[in-house]
Amino acid sequence: MKNEMLHKLFALNHSKTMDGDTLLSIFFQNDKKELPTNSQTPTEIQDLIKNGVFTGSAKSSSFIRASYIDKNNILVAGLGVKSDSTPEIARQTGAMVYNKVAAEKVSELCVDVDALVKAAGKELAAVTLGAFFEGFYLASYTFDKYKSVQKPAGKLKSITLVSSDKKNDGWIKNLIEKTLVTADCTFLTRDLSNEPSNIGTPTYYANTIAKIAKQYGVKCTIMGEAECKKENMHLFLSVGAGSTQESKVVILEYTPKTGAKSAKTVSLVGKGVTFDSGGISIKPSMRMEDMKHDMTGAATMVGSTFMAARLGSKNKIVTLLGFCENMPGNNATQPGNIINTRAGKTVEIINTDAEGRLVLADVLHLAQDYKPDVILDTATLTGACTVALGKLASALFSNDSKLADQILDSSEQTEEHLWELPLWDEYFDDLKSNYADMMNSANDGAGGTIRGAIFMKQFIKEGQKWAHVDLANRAYDQGYLPYNPRKGSSGVYVRTFAEFAMNYR
Ligand code: BES
Ligand code: ZN
Ligand code: ZN
Repeated sequence: MKNEMLHKLFALNHSKTMDGDTLLSIFFQNDKKELPTNSQTPTEIQDLIKNGVFTGSAKSSSFIRASYIDKNNILVAGLGVKSDSTPEIARQTGAMVYNKVAAEKVSELCVDVDALVKAAGKELAAVTLGAFFEGFYLASYTFDKYKSVQKPAGKLKSITLVSSDKKNDGWIKNLIEKTLVTADCTFLTRDLSNEPSNIGTPTYYANTIAKIAKQYGVKCTIMGEAECKKENMHLFLSVGAGSTQESKVVILEYTPKTGAKSAKTVSLVGKGVTFDSGGISIKPSMRMEDMKHDMTGAATMVGSTFMAARLGSKNKIVTLLGFCENMPGNNATQPGNIINTRAGKTVEIINTDAEGRLVLADVLHLAQDYKPDVILDTATLTGACTVALGKLASALFSNDSKLADQILDSSEQTEEHLWELPLWDEYFDDLKSNYADMMNSANDGAGGTIRGAIFMKQFIKEGQKWAHVDLANRAYDQGYLPYNPRKGSSGVYVRTFAEFAMNYR
């Protein structure tokens, strides 16, 4: 399946008849780990169960090819014991089933919704199918536009959710819409993040995002270096000073059609370093190619913003993205330089590779001009994040414990883990400078992820609710989850931040 054919192929139809080359049934086990069947269960499936070929254990599936004309192929998927079920199991099972569908060259997939509703009830069936197809679609992503020979598009032409009960129409339609929007927006984030930096320049990203914003009725403003200078964003500009590429700040403003009284203004902020060479404090060459992904924070907020907008968020969303390229060069910022900021505080640059916090400090300060009720930023900020948390959860910080809990709630719903780290003011002592108001790094390797966060906190005004997520450890190479690509951008947290932006109260 090719991403650009998303909408043509993602024709999840609602229909009343089972008609397609492959029939998919999704099963829960009972508490005894048995598969309950009834007289309506197709005999082929009953045989599979009787023979022990298919037990219905979590994340399992079996495919039986029709052996004669006019008969459908049978595909069964297992979600394990119903009382232990989670959407994540369904999401991962959906991803595995996608791989089977692709390998077996299925062209029309027909899903037995009635049987699942009968076994699980409407609510659990809706949640399960939603997560299942989320995983299914997310697993279909490829990024091979730069290969001279591309992987052929899959054979899948349609997916039909079959239900005989009209009462199911509403939630099935919602599920289809949400699945398509989720896949589309996650793919956008992955595409932006995977773009190599010779194409993916600040100008490229600004123009690409502006085009998409127009399509969805979201206002887009682009600030070039002259405008940033007028805004005294010298710290942001110092990061791109060594690059031939012009730095850009992109501002997206989504305003809901109905202005409900309870609506809030949520600001999303993202680090968009299109390539992080480290600058004068240049990085070692090992895996430096991964630093094309150093704009994943911005890409994630782009995906979340469009997702929330397309799903009809009642909250206003103002998204600010700082795009620039961190390069050595004659004009590059040097260690020891002291730079002024939009907030009026001065920063001594100790390490030009600690540049993400410089980008965000000025952009976060600008975000506060929009008087948001809450600001959430995300960035591939520190390698130390992987040391602290491995690959399973990114680091969350907030100056407001209720806000942290709300973000953790959103992440629990999407099952994209976050883990809160402390933001005690004493951590700032390590960043006190001899010559300026602060240093951007202490260069002794201790508590790197927290120090990044505490640095940015200096640019948040009294009373402003703010949270920061360092996703450096989860931005790419997350193939341990079957719905993520083995290599390259994961698109993780697009769903969580969209959920948060929509539902923040
Ligand atoms: N972009 C990097 C962080 C990063 C590292 C992201 C590895 C993804 C994978 C960031 O700008 C950086 O270089 N941070 C330094 C900070 C240090 C100099 C204080 C780091 O983590 O080493
Ligand atoms: Zn860096
Ligand atoms: Zn960086």
